[in-house]
Amino acid sequence: MTSTRPEPTARRSVFRRKPVDAFVTETRPDAEGGELQRSIGLFQLTLFGVGATIGTGIFIVLTEAVPEAGPAVIVSFILAGITAALTAVCYAELASTIPVSGSSYSYTYATMGEIVAFGVAACLLLEYGVSSAAVSVGWSQYLNSLFSDVFGFRMPDAIIAAPGEGGVLNLPAIVLVTLCCLLLVRGARESALANTVMVLIKLGVLLLFIIIGFTAFSASNFETFAPFGIAGIGAAASSIFFSFIGLDAVSTAGEEVHNPRRNLPLAILFATVVVTTFYILVSLAALGAQPYQDFAGQEAGLAAILRNITGSNVWSAILAAGAVISIFSVTLVTLYGQTRILFAMGRDGMLPEVFHRVDPRTLAPVRNTIIVGLFVGALAGFVPLGVLIDLTSMGTLVAFTVVSIGVIILRRTQPDLPRGFRVPGYPVTPILSAASAIYIMSGLPLTTYGLFVVWLGIAAIIYFTYSMRHSQLGRGHAVAAEPPR
Ligand code: ALA
Repeated sequence: MTSTRPEPTARRSVFRRKPVDAFVTETRPDAEGGELQRSIGLFQLTLFGVGATIGTGIFIVLTEAVPEAGPAVIVSFILAGITAALTAVCYAELASTIPVSGSSYSYTYATMGEIVAFGVAACLLLEYGVSSAAVSVGWSQYLNSLFSDVFGFRMPDAIIAAPGEGGVLNLPAIVLVTLCCLLLVRGARESALANTVMVLIKLGVLLLFIIIGFTAFSASNFETFAPFGIAGIGAAASSIFFSFIGLDAVSTAGEEVHNPRRNLPLAILFATVVVTTFYILVSLAALGAQPYQDFAGQEAGLAAILRNITGSNVWSAILAAGAVISIFSVTLVTLYGQTRILFAMGRDGMLPEVFHRVDPRTLAPVRNTIIVGLFVGALAGFVPLGVLIDLTSMGTLVAFTVVSIGVIILRRTQPDLPRGFRVPGYPVTPILSAASAIYIMSGLPLTTYGLFVVWLGIAAIIYFTYSMRHSQLGRGHAVAAEPPR
């Protein structure tokens, strides 16, 4: 059963839930206010997931994680991949039931209530906003490697590193964020097309790495497989997890996809398979090509490995060029996801209306995108990469846990809702999904927990001073008048 209009007491409660049919009604073409355009198909959507996922993680974090686990980093990859895949199927069910922009924020609003949804939105700001900053910092490492291979010139540390890392600011990262925002304000169709081209290039250079890497394969590099034991594998899985973030970004495009109930879950599943296969092959090739002790301190790691194998700058330059393009696509998609989550929140009255306005010509939320660009640009320019990566993982893992629990809650509270996709192995799958996310979270450093609590505190202040009073649901709006379609 779906509810229609909440009781007055429910309207006042911070646990008020937005009816699923309200989401569906307000995103129809005849809905009031700005709407987005349905222009993305299954193929582009799958590449959108791949585009959002393969980036700084495999190009940079892999080489940082190997010294933590040794060759057993492959196991860490499998653990992180299983967690991501389990959660991806949970996302797929919710995305096929509530196919709107806003991802886990919207799902939580329908299942656990407004204040939890606001907390999840705060986590999503870490998953998307902070992660686009992290990814753009990784981009600047490869840009520097490319400059060095092609022109024999490296940019000075002062303009390529954050203050905590021996520089003044990371200028290339800021430039990247600006370029992506310029593309995004042109509209979703253009962004999706640009993304498709960039993803094909990214898969191409990783294939190149795998082929060249295997020519130098030495089985002896795997003889001491897990030098740092289970603890090392767990710690590396927490770092590596970053490389799987983005699979769920597919679910932020719910309102711009053709046939979302079928295409959203399929795209998430296809993207998970493509990404995991590439990661395992790249790590096997990298570990086969050099002993695990050589990974420590290697900047722009995959390019460095190719340079060592071939003794020439040509292949490493091609790889670095591919990485520069690939990481561009990750930044583009994660920035896109962030703007769509804020868009959904603006529509719900949780944030000011400016986040929900779309430009009548491009149908893109232009001012929303500019605000996001300023925020992410500042983080990318001035905060060290390690801090950004851990905060991103923390926010994502909390959101993943909530989504997994959300599947169970929605099945119990609204069992008859039409679902385009159902999680197989229910309820074991969502329970395992939540448990594995909590396990990976346990490997994150204490400072990350501290920063996370501060961030949630800030979110609570915003909620109680603004959102609670402006919430459309609380004011008796945003409630469906018709049954869902
Ligand atoms: N998964 C994304 C990356 O690795 C965030 O860059």
